[in-house]
Amino acid sequence: MKDEPLVAGRSYWLKAGTATVPATVTSIRHRIDIDNGAHVAARSLALNEIGLCHLSTAQPIAFDPYAKCRETGGFILIDRIGNDTAAAGMIDFALRRATNIHRQAEAVSPAERAALKAQQGAVVWFTGLSGAGKSTIANLAEQKLLALGAHTMLLDGDNVRHGLNRDLGFTDADRVENIRRLGEVAKLMADAGLVVICAFISPFRADRQMAREIAAPHPFVEVFIDTPLDECVRRDPKGLYAKAKAGDIPNFTGLGSPYEAPETPELTLATVGEAPEALAATLVELLHERGVVH
Ligand code: ADX
Repeated sequence: MKDEPLVAGRSYWLKAGTATVPATVTSIRHRIDIDNGAHVAARSLALNEIGLCHLSTAQPIAFDPYAKCRETGGFILIDRIGNDTAAAGMIDFALRRATNIHRQAEAVSPAERAALKAQQGAVVWFTGLSGAGKSTIANLAEQKLLALGAHTMLLDGDNVRHGLNRDLGFTDADRVENIRRLGEVAKLMADAGLVVICAFISPFRADRQMAREIAAPHPFVEVFIDTPLDECVRRDPKGLYAKAKAGDIPNFTGLGSPYEAPETPELTLATVGEAPEALAATLVELLHERGVVH
């Protein structure tokens, strides 16, 4: 019901009866061709399209199959940023895994793991255009934290895309899945008691919000590496803007694909005319003030 397509991996509010809970479309099974009812493979659902999806809600909800009861079998999905209705749906059945996978209690808590390291597990999330300086500042910040005796881990977009996420490209749907997986990995590492520095373009506000929610209750420090597009194009450290301008990379962030700057990040580092060292030091100071490291 929105101009923006529905993609798997993104989080919405699901309203069913009196319950409103966060929900993710975990997969789009197929699109239904409304002319002939055929099932068509699809990675996203555009305006007015209909499809069969798997959903995962953050909390259990009560429902009936729509075929049995319309009142308790229907739902809507609400966009979490704009608060407008994104989709309407009918519930068919609960997946078996919904009731057969349990949470296993852990004897050692994330707080205990972090306490042994004399720090707090935390996710430090860099966002910004390609060439903005994310990796440079992230590396300097990690070196400084290491020198303070902090236990850290650095996750960098280019590197993770060579391994865990090598099956993902740069369509909107793939970027959402990229951030969802990285948000989960960062959370696990924060559970291990580490200060995890993440450097990904992460162009969409909704997905950074999702990473923040995945990380909770760990502190999530969003750091906007603020470099204007013109300056990134001028720097072009990997020669990718030149390629994109020549038409060789169709959905390059900032040119063929959008970048949504954060509205209320914990920290904004404007890089033009500033030394990366000094910017990294500002971040380390903030982590110190917040009690993440000592
Ligand atoms: S994200 O948008 O999904 O968050 P991520 O940070 O993982 O991106 O990867 C970005 C890196 O991939 C860039 O630094 C660049 O080297 C490379 N890259 C290749 N194609 C693209 C593209 N179309 N848009 C942006 N970056 C790209």
